[in-house]
Amino acid sequence: MKDLILVTGGTGYIGSHTAVELINEGYEVVIVDNLANSTADSLDGIEKITGVRPAFEQFDLCDKSLVEAFFEKYPKLKAIIHFAAYKAVGESVELPLKYYRNNLVSLMNLLECMGQFKVPSIVFSSSCTVYGQPKDLPVTENAPILPAESPYGNTKQICEEILRDSVHSMPDIRVIALRYFNPIGAHPTALIGELPRGIPNNLVPFVTQTAAGLRGELKVFGDDYPTPDGSAVRDYINVADLAKAHVSAIGRLLNQKNEANFEFFNLGTGRGSSVLEVVKTFEKVTGVSVNYKIVGRRAGDVVAVWADTSKANEVLGWKAATSLEDTLLSAWNWEKKLRGIQ
Ligand code: UFG
Repeated sequence: MKDLILVTGGTGYIGSHTAVELINEGYEVVIVDNLANSTADSLDGIEKITGVRPAFEQFDLCDKSLVEAFFEKYPKLKAIIHFAAYKAVGESVELPLKYYRNNLVSLMNLLECMGQFKVPSIVFSSSCTVYGQPKDLPVTENAPILPAESPYGNTKQICEEILRDSVHSMPDIRVIALRYFNPIGAHPTALIGELPRGIPNNLVPFVTQTAAGLRGELKVFGDDYPTPDGSAVRDYINVADLAKAHVSAIGRLLNQKNEANFEFFNLGTGRGSSVLEVVKTFEKVTGVSVNYKIVGRRAGDVVAVWADTSKANEVLGWKAATSLEDTLLSAWNWEKKLRGIQ
């Protein structure tokens, strides 16, 4: 009997890659998504890659009665990976309540049903944003949590607090929070990838869209940071590598290998790359030039952050494997496929 895993937000960017890795490792997957920021096409991609079409339920996790009905319909559910959330930093500043309602209520509904229906294990999508600009780099899981720069970032911090408090009151519940650095790239088959709506906020989709001719020019936000080339530094992690860490986390929870009921791990490569390094590496591996202009800094950006990944390496037995070069190439292959570029 295959263990059944609920992947919320499973038609989205990281969720779809994780569904693939779970299926490849022999799990059965059911996806819940309201398609607020994704399309059901990714189910076709998952099926083409794995040969299995996961079950799919389209509804909003903020509706408690629908969440309850879901748990009733799937009594064999063993664990949850909770990706479903709004994630646009800028929009969260404009519409904070939209973010607080969606990101907090969906998690609380899941936690209540986990207690009610005795599904004890959950992996939560968190973010390195909880560290703000850390004093010491690379950043370890013991670095202090700094005040969030945006309502979006605050929802990640509050969700971690909700989880921490919930494991105290519900001692059967086991949580692993995964703090992602900057996930980029696409599945090596180019059958699933990131589908940003409108103008991309994130660097790599903007780079690939500029290279594809959809955007006239990439704006590089700042070249006067105290970094080797003056542009800001991040830890860019391949999305398929990132997805595999979720499979390790699920295995740890299901086999009750967790040492505490609330654990958290940094997921990155351990290496920082600057914005200009990303652009130049993209140009080198694809042979396509990217029209860019240096402009002023973007409000709220940290200077530099990259992960100390030793905890995930040692405890989860997971390590990022794909190079920045191959990851940027995968992002370009996905963009070319979307735009019908040969
Ligand atoms: N950047 C540009 N030009 C762009 C887009 C981004 O120069 O058009 C730069 C940014 O200024 C930053 C780097 O590229 O220095 C990476 O920016 P992203 O927007 O891709 O990623 P961030 O590190 O800003 O964002 C990440 C996650 C968010 C999270 C945030 C917290 O994507 O989910 O960290 O700061 F909230």
